[in-house]
Amino acid sequence: MIISHAGKVAFITGAGSGIGRGIALRLASDGASIAVVDLKLELAQETLALVQAQGGSGVALAADVRSREQVQAAVDDTVAQLGSLDLLVNNAGVVTMTSLADLTDDEWDFVVDVNLKGQFIAAQIASRVMPSGGAIVNLATVESEVVVSSSGNCQPHYNASKGGVTMLTKALAVELAQKGIRVNAVAPGPVNTRFTGGDITGPEAMAFMSQRLLVPRVGEPEDIANAVSFLLSDAASFIVGVQLPVDGGWLTR
Ligand SMILES: NC(=O)c1ccc[n+]([C@@H]2O[C@H](COP(=O)([O-])OP(=O)(O)OC[C@H]3O[C@@H](n4cnc5c(N)ncnc54)[C@H](O)[C@@H]3O)[C@@H](O)[C@H]2O)c1
Repeated sequence: MIISHAGKVAFITGAGSGIGRGIALRLASDGASIAVVDLKLELAQETLALVQAQGGSGVALAADVRSREQVQAAVDDTVAQLGSLDLLVNNAGVVTMTSLADLTDDEWDFVVDVNLKGQFIAAQIASRVMPSGGAIVNLATVESEVVVSSSGNCQPHYNASKGGVTMLTKALAVELAQKGIRVNAVAPGPVNTRFTGGDITGPEAMAFMSQRLLVPRVGEPEDIANAVSFLLSDAASFIVGVQLPVDGGWLTR
C-alpha cells in the first residue's frame, strides 16, 4: 500500500509538540506541505524547522483553536501561502488532572472548549475551503469510550470532551460527505508526550498501564501519525465516520 500526500496541504492544530509534531513530520515525509498551527508560535516554528530539515515545506502559524478569528486567519494564511488546504488534523488538546470533587467551571470550560469546540471551529472554517477529495482526522482518545482512573481519580471534563469528539466525527462525516470530504477519528492509548505533565514511562505508571496494554510499551507519536496518514490518504477512500483505536490493545479487555 503506497501512501502519498504529494501536492496536498495539511493543516495540523497543536502541531508544536507531541503527537501533532509527529503527524507533521509523517505527512511531510509523505509529500504534503504543512501548516504547522499551535497556540505557541515558537513551538510551531520548531516543528517547521524539523519538517524543513527532512526536506519538507510549510508555514508556522499561531492560532488558539478556541478563537474563530484566529483559526480563520490561519486558514486564510495557509491558502494564501501554500495554495490550498486539503487535509485537516484536529489534534490540539488539553487535560487537567482534576477529578469531579475539585473540578471548577473554569477548568471544565477550558478543556471542553479546546478539545471539542476547537475541533468544531476548525472543521467548519477549513471545510469551507477544502476541495472534494479532502479529508479530516480528529484526535479522540481511548477515554472517549472508557474512563481511565488511576487511584480513583478520573477527569470527567476530559472524558466528556473526547466523548463529544466521537459523535462530532460522525456528524461531520455525514454532512461533509456531501462535499466529498471524508472525516474519521483516531483514538490513541497512552502516548509518550508532555500531555499529562507526568512521566508515563516510569515503573509506577507502567505497572498500572500493563494491566491493560497488550503491546508492552506506551505509544510514540509516530504510532499515531502512521494511522492518521493512512486515514487521510486515498488508501482509506472507503473509510468514513470511524474512530480507529491506536492503543496497544487498551480497549480490548
Ligand atoms: N499523549 C497521550 O497519551 C494522548 C492520549 C490520547 C489522546 N491524546 C490526544 O492527542 C492530542 C495531542 O496530545 P499530545 O499528547 O501531543 O499533547 P501535547 O501537550 O504534547 O501537545 C499539544 C499541543 O497542542 C497545543 N495547544 C494546546 N492548546 C491549544 C489551543 N487552544 N490552540 C492551539 N493549540 C493548542 C499545545 O501548545 C501543544 O503544542 C490531544 O488532542 C490529546 O487529547 C493524547
